[in-house]
Amino acid sequence: MKDQSPEYLQGNIDAWQKKAADYVSSAEEAWASDHPSWGIWEIPESSTRLLPEDMSGMNAIELGCGTAYVSAWLCRRGAKVVAIDPTPGQLATARRLQKKQRPGRTPNGQRSGRQRKPGL
Ligand SMILES: C[S@@+](CC[C@H](N)C(=O)[O-])C[C@H]1O[C@@H](n2cnc3c(N)ncnc32)[C@H](O)[C@@H]1O
Repeated sequence: MKDQSPEYLQGNIDAWQKKAADYVSSAEEAWASDHPSWGIWEIPESSTRLLPEDMSGMNAIELGCGTAYVSAWLCRRGAKVVAIDPTPGQLATARRLQKKQRPGRTPNGQRSGRQRKPGL
């Protein structure tokens, strides 16, 4: 079947592919963190309260997941997550870190026992 993706999409992927290496170290930090934060100002989740503490039984999809650290946070709160991205370099980082994923922690620092990983 002929690829009918618009031309701008390939340009977008090419641009992200060139930048993928720049996001590796921040991805490693974010995947490892039990303290999500948002955006370029790193607003802490503890002040925004965007995510339910317990996401058990919830399904989520992250479109344009990049290195998928948000998906990792959702999984550690118990959600079942599928993460997709069109850029191979971003997904390579996500898949490498997915293998290192560890169980989440409860708000008081106990291991939560949740070991689910995002589907990539
Ligand atoms: C800044 S990252 C976002 C990562 C993460 N979701 C976050 O919130 O930080 C943007 C990602 O969007 C992806 N992307 C670019 N064009 C896209 C498209 N048309 N559909 C889905 N993802 C796309 C890129 O490959 C890139 O990894």
